[in-house]
Amino acid sequence: MEKFRKNFTFIGKIKSFKQVENELIFEASHKFIKIIILSNKMFRIRMGDSENFAFDFSYSIIKTKWEKIPIKVKETDIAIIIQTQELKIIVEKSPYRLIVKNNDDQIIWEDINSSAIGWKDNEIIYIKKMPEDEHYYGFGEKTGGLDKRGYSYRMHTKESPFYQTKTDPLYQAHPYFIGLRKNNAYGVFFDNTWETFFDMGKGFKDFYIIGAKNGELNLYFFYGPTIKEVIEQYTELIGRIMLPPIWSLGFVQCRWGYKDAKKVNEIASKLRENKISSDMLVLDLDYMKGKRVFTWNDETFPDPENWTKIMNEKGFKLITIIDPGVKVEDGYYMHDEGVKNDYFVKKTDDGFWHGYVWPGKTYFPDYTKEEVRKWWGEKVEFLLNKGISGIWNDMNEISYNIQPYLHRVKTKNTIFYDNGLNTSYEKNHNVYGLLMAKATHEGLLKCQPNKRPWILTRSGFPGIHRYAAVWTGDNTSNWQHMKMSIPMLCNMGLSAIPNVGADIGGFSPWINCLRKLVMRLDKNFATRWHQLGAFYPFARNHCVIFARPQEPWEFGEEALEIIKKYILLRYHWIPYLYNLFVECSKNGLPPMRPLILEFQDDEICYNIDDQFMWGEHILVAPVIKKNLKLHKIYLPEGIWFDYWSGERHHGKIIKSLPVDWHEIPILIRAGAIIPCQPDMEYFREKEINPLILEVYPDFNLESEYTFQEDDGESLEYLREKICTTQYILSCKNGDIEFIIGARKGQFKPNTRDYLILFKFIGTVKNIELDGTSLEKASDENLNKWYLDERTNDIIIKIQDTGEKRIIKINK
Ligand code: GLC
Repeated sequence: MEKFRKNFTFIGKIKSFKQVENELIFEASHKFIKIIILSNKMFRIRMGDSENFAFDFSYSIIKTKWEKIPIKVKETDIAIIIQTQELKIIVEKSPYRLIVKNNDDQIIWEDINSSAIGWKDNEIIYIKKMPEDEHYYGFGEKTGGLDKRGYSYRMHTKESPFYQTKTDPLYQAHPYFIGLRKNNAYGVFFDNTWETFFDMGKGFKDFYIIGAKNGELNLYFFYGPTIKEVIEQYTELIGRIMLPPIWSLGFVQCRWGYKDAKKVNEIASKLRENKISSDMLVLDLDYMKGKRVFTWNDETFPDPENWTKIMNEKGFKLITIIDPGVKVEDGYYMHDEGVKNDYFVKKTDDGFWHGYVWPGKTYFPDYTKEEVRKWWGEKVEFLLNKGISGIWNDMNEISYNIQPYLHRVKTKNTIFYDNGLNTSYEKNHNVYGLLMAKATHEGLLKCQPNKRPWILTRSGFPGIHRYAAVWTGDNTSNWQHMKMSIPMLCNMGLSAIPNVGADIGGFSPWINCLRKLVMRLDKNFATRWHQLGAFYPFARNHCVIFARPQEPWEFGEEALEIIKKYILLRYHWIPYLYNLFVECSKNGLPPMRPLILEFQDDEICYNIDDQFMWGEHILVAPVIKKNLKLHKIYLPEGIWFDYWSGERHHGKIIKSLPVDWHEIPILIRAGAIIPCQPDMEYFREKEINPLILEVYPDFNLESEYTFQEDDGESLEYLREKICTTQYILSCKNGDIEFIIGARKGQFKPNTRDYLILFKFIGTVKNIELDGTSLEKASDENLNKWYLDERTNDIIIKIQDTGEKRIIKINK
């Protein structure tokens, strides 16, 4: 460590400090530190050269005004102690050293014993103690396992074709992580757009290092103690998602190389013929004229207005890719407008900076200029007028040289506008994807003020979730990538990127081709990835132009049936998934969750990264190994029901469950109330009638669930056009009471019945609805109940009157 520290200058002692309301400024030997108390559990640290700190600006942060909370500040000989209701922030004077404790006097975050903050030229480092039982999560889109202890990462958005299981960095940059120790979680966000780096025990055993190549030391600290509270605070700071249009939760089919409308029609027909539920078809580069952004190839995709209308009627939304690079070509309107108005990223000497992307030589819009974002945003109208429903932003890290063997593009002499500061590529590229998404999002909103914009992006920085869903770029068709997608997506969820997916089936066959040609022909592999992918928040099958076709029907009848079954299960549970997004829009919690998020006090869950939760109730244990016969899974505390067999398990146990390739284990936590819809091939194929509730009672438990509904597509939900129904389940010694609360709110769902499935409960003595005994029937009948002998479910059909109903089941 001393060798590493040698080249740095460190902050030294505190000479004086002053307090202005909730801000404390410390003058140290060489620098100034400002600690700003934002809430009882959140504070910010900045470092500057003088009392006047740098211009305060953030692309990520939404909430800048915080209600002043009362704090106590006390000075002793050795330290200044700031006390909030939840934290004691101790700033030792000689040298400056920060220690954060909770009310139980437990140390949560602590600088090393000597000076911890150092710098060398423009580089800054901050060295923290790393207790041996502390674990780390977050960091956005990264390769590796769930627990990031022992890893080091660079936050530098980078195009990463053919990335592998150790590649770093990738497309997104999220300088944010969560620390967890003794059930106390904290979060740290380093709000700096330059390349930042985090060494979480790879370089040193007892310390971790947060650093940046340049820019300000500007950190936000959040205390949990739960991970959920950390995420809630982080997303209070950087904002939360807008609800996605409900159709975007459906299955998505895509491929680079659907070369014309005829091919897309063929894919659409096959999806419908095979009864594969799906809602979105995504057009890759092929629909453009010579890969020029905001153009349309009328020869290969003729009469787009009519074509998209027909597709919409069949239940397919069309999404188009756009890349930021604008072809350098006189006469091409995007080029000419951009050049005339000075909209492109410049070079320090003269003219615009150029790179080489799909259309050849390209200029890049400078989205750090508001005017450019507005211009770009207006261009989406071109696609909307053709009937396009959403936009896919690609190559936005920025990818500037796809032919490195032909060109030597450098970024050294580039200038971005950056709020008039005219700064370098290095300072701005991390936010390029974020700002492109912002421009696209604002453009979509401007053209369609009452429609939820839908965008998919490859690159991003904290705040990207406000505008776009994210997929993990060009992954590979192998088991390692399939497996890695779980911790990757889970950590993205913990990093406030909740709407995420990896290309189902894998994007690129390249590496496998070198090693083992048969890899992509494996029907077992394709099936397994679809079984897993059906539970990605964003579920898209996509691959590269030179891959063999990998649509669900490409692997034989049996595989197709299995894939269909899982996609259909996703559709069945979409009201539940949608409500996970509703929850996410309120508290930032992701739909796809690592077990640790739900079972933080269970150390076994700290690094389980081959299982995950859908919300609080559904545990998914995908099969990510070839020819697996017995699947070892961990069930945390609680009672769990095997979704397929109804078998009841006591948690806190490792179970070995037999699996054949038709199934992956799915376990439901007792007490779950899961709203479901009838089978559909696409949204709005029919009305939701009946509304199905899967209820999972047990001997003694109480649980409740609030179900929100809205129109699923407009922004009226922001104007209170929603309705909510609360369901309460109470079980005492096996007897069950289930209350459907009176529906509240302005949104009116269609007339419908409820089909309530009390799962796996078997024979019962008597069932009452609102005090009157219900008759038993031999199948689904209004105001009657029946026992499905195959599943042991008690099924009751009643009218959804919107009023309170009480069902009592006597065992
Ligand atoms: C990039 C994207 C990929 C896309 C391709 C062509 O490689 O990551 O998804 O298909 O470009 O547009």
